[in-house]
Parts: sequence; structure tokens; C-alpha cells
Amino acid sequence: MSLTYSTYLGLNDLLQLQQPRSSPPEHDEMLFIVIHQTYELWFKLVLHELDKVKRDFSAGDLYGAIHTMRRCRTIMKTLVAQIDILETMTPMSFTSFRDRLETSSGFQSSQYRELEFVLGYKRPAMMKFFKADDPAAPVMQKRLNERSLVDHFYDFLKLHDVDVPESLMKRDVSQPNEANEHVQEGLLRLYTSRPDLVILFEAMTDFDEGLQEWRYRHVKLVERTIGAKHGTGGSLGVEFLKKSLFLPVFADLWAIRHKL
Ligand code: HEM
Repeated sequence: MSLTYSTYLGLNDLLQLQQPRSSPPEHDEMLFIVIHQTYELWFKLVLHELDKVKRDFSAGDLYGAIHTMRRCRTIMKTLVAQIDILETMTPMSFTSFRDRLETSSGFQSSQYRELEFVLGYKRPAMMKFFKADDPAAPVMQKRLNERSLVDHFYDFLKLHDVDVPESLMKRDVSQPNEANEHVQEGLLRLYTSRPDLVILFEAMTDFDEGLQEWRYRHVKLVERTIGAKHGTGGSLGVEFLKKSLFLPVFADLWAIRHKL
């Protein structure tokens, strides 16, 4: 059989994957499922792209890194904009099928945790929310134990004579990345002497800001939809989500801005 649009994209499988649980069906549950599945597809792509940026960083490929970081930034803007669609769902409409979600929650998105790990926000404790026999568990564990994008960024900076301390190069990579003064000194020098590198640094800052925007839009979506109710994942809901609102990925890029 020759390849078709449908067989290439696996559409027969893909379009069977939207199965509302409400009975009789609540109209908005389809939107709820489609939007979450769409997010997961974008997460898959961002992970794929960030893996390339890691390689670009370590190989010193500036233009490759700029190109792909810009793509990631654009995807992030799309992720933020999609929240508008879900905000057309009223709290009453969500309440009509919320019980059907039982204890499932975006909190259990393994790809979102992978994304956090890749970006250096390593919280080994997150692993305990996934069963050992969950096929996603070893994938997450691998991400937890491998060098993050920030660690690969150190490689890039070293290629540009930044004095990245050995302690950072040999750090326990299963722990979160943290801001470092030596790295910041090097970045300051590059910001004022290398306009080509600044294009990359700004694209990274855009991406970082995009992720913070997503957290903000998500928490507001949650607040307008469920108010002070607890999450289906068992957290305090809005109060829990507010804690990570302003968390940066590239902390060193943010720390130097008042000196530029
Ligand atoms: C009506 C819409 C939504 C509501 C009411 C909602 C609610 C919540 C709540 C209350 C939490 C905290 C954990 C918990 O106790 O469940 C959470 C976490 C999360 N949600 Fe949503 N959410 C919505 C839509 C979305 C969408 C569209 C996504 C896209 C993937 C998403 C992804 C996540 C992620 C990744 C977390 C974990 C955040 C973290 O741990 O920092 N949520 N959500």
C-alpha cells in the first residue's frame, strides 16, 4: 500500500485517542482533552529541540543554537497563547466533568518534568509521583541523571574563555543548576564585547521569560476556573502553583541585567 497523508501521520490512531469520560458527554470535555494532548505533542518537540541545543552548545555551534533557541521560543509563545482557547470554558462547564478526571492532573505530566530536568530544575523528589513500572519513569530518570541544558551552556561559555569553575563542571548533575558569580562575570564581558553571542543570550532569555509567562497564564487559568479548590492531583492548587511562578532557567542571564 502506498504511503498516504493519513498513514504517514498515523491519523487513524491519533484521531481515536480523544475519548471523553463523561456520560452523557459534556461538550467541553473534548476541548479539554485535545488541548492537553496538543501540549504534550509540543512538549515532545521542545524536548527534541533542546537536545539539539545541548549538542550545539557543546560543539560551539553558535548559529545552530540561535536558530533552534528561536524555534523553542516561538513554540513557547504558542503554548502561552493556547491558554486563551481553554479560557473560553466556564467554571460551570469544567465542574460538569471535573469529577471524571479523578486524581489525574497535569502534575503527572512526565514530559513536563522531563522539560524541567532538561532545563536544570532538577527535583529528584518528583520521581516518587511516578510508579516504577510506568514506562515514563526510566526516561525521566535518564533526564534527571544527565547534564542539563545549563551544563551544556557552560561548555559553550568555556569555549569563549569564560572561567567556569571546575566545581560547576564536575557538579552532581542530578541536582538543580544554580546561579554562579564567575559565570556572571564571563557573561558580562561577552555581553559587552560579542554582539553575535548577545543574539543567543537574548533568545535564551526570551525562552526563559516564555516559560514564566506560561506558569503565570496557567495559574490564572486555574484561579478563574477552580478558584481556591484543591487540585485533582492533591495539591493546594493555586497556592502551590504560585510558588514556582518566577523561577528562572538561566539564572545567570537574569542576575547581570542591572549591570548591562
Ligand atoms: C481547566 C484547566 C486546568 C486546571 C483547572 C488545572 C489545574 C491544575 C492544578 C490545580 C495543578 C496543581 C497540581 C494539582 O493539584 O493538580 C496543575 C498543575 C499542572 N498543570 Fe494544570 N490545569 C489546567 C490546565 C492545564 C493545561 C492545559 C496544561 C497543559 C499541559 C496543564 C499542565 C499542568 C502542569 C504541567 C502542572 C504541574 C505544574 C507544576 O508542578 O509546577 N494544566 N494544574
